[in-house]
Amino acid sequence: EKQLNGLEHGNLAQVRHVVLVLSGKGGVGKSTLTTELALALRHAGKKVGILDVDLCGPSIPRMLCVGRQDVHQCDAGWVPVYTDAQKSLALMSIGFLLENPDDAVVWRGPKKTALIGQFVSDVAWGELDFLLVDTPPGTSDEHLAVVENLRKHKVDGAILVTTPQAVSTGDVRREITFCKKTGLRILGIVENMRMQQHLLQRWRGGAGKAFWITIFG
Ligand SMILES: Nc1ncnc2c1ncn2[C@@H]1O[C@H](COP(=O)(O)OP(=O)(O)OP(=O)(O)O)[C@@H](O)[C@H]1O
Ligand SMILES: [Mg+2]
Repeated sequence: EKQLNGLEHGNLAQVRHVVLVLSGKGGVGKSTLTTELALALRHAGKKVGILDVDLCGPSIPRMLCVGRQDVHQCDAGWVPVYTDAQKSLALMSIGFLLENPDDAVVWRGPKKTALIGQFVSDVAWGELDFLLVDTPPGTSDEHLAVVENLRKHKVDGAILVTTPQAVSTGDVRREITFCKKTGLRILGIVENMRMQQHLLQRWRGGAGKAFWITIFG
């Protein structure tokens, strides 16, 4: 039965929680938040994995000071890169698979979507408490591919990252719509890089259980 389970759930069979990090706009701090959250969870004694599906900007490896890596394949799939000897933080960046970072430009449309979709289920994570998925900005086909391929596994939900400016331009609303349409639970909203203090706007869109965090930057 164990084997059957393994086959059914593939490489995410032993991953307890999966959390997506999304934002409508670029540069609002998704990768920073993903990295900080991973480090905080590790500090709390959890086994953490980061899946970086941003083809164009492999910022997670940079933030964790992991240089360009040759990734290896085992029977179960791609072997993640570990940042420490205890293997408490595993990382897989789609950027690692590109021979040349400029190749990202060549990947287009369905081919890119297929690559990302497959990539999501092809990493041999082993046992993890949390898998954090850092995404490119927006709600493109890439995001759909990620969500579709995670659908057969248990996804806890998404954290939306935004800035005060983006809140006012409706970017968050688009993200919320995306989450609703794809059935992704919104775990919370992180309002990053607020320059000056003013009254917290409360997001009234969800089940009331989501958090709202403001980070001053
Ligand atoms: N709270 C903060 N205070 C100061 N600087 C910050 C803060 N959060 C993020 N930054 C900086 O803002 C820049 C963009 O952050 P980051 O790369 O995490 O954004 P992103 O949403 O992942 O961008 P992209 O959409 O390009 O992937 C980085 O230089 C980061 O160091
Ligand atoms: Mg990023």
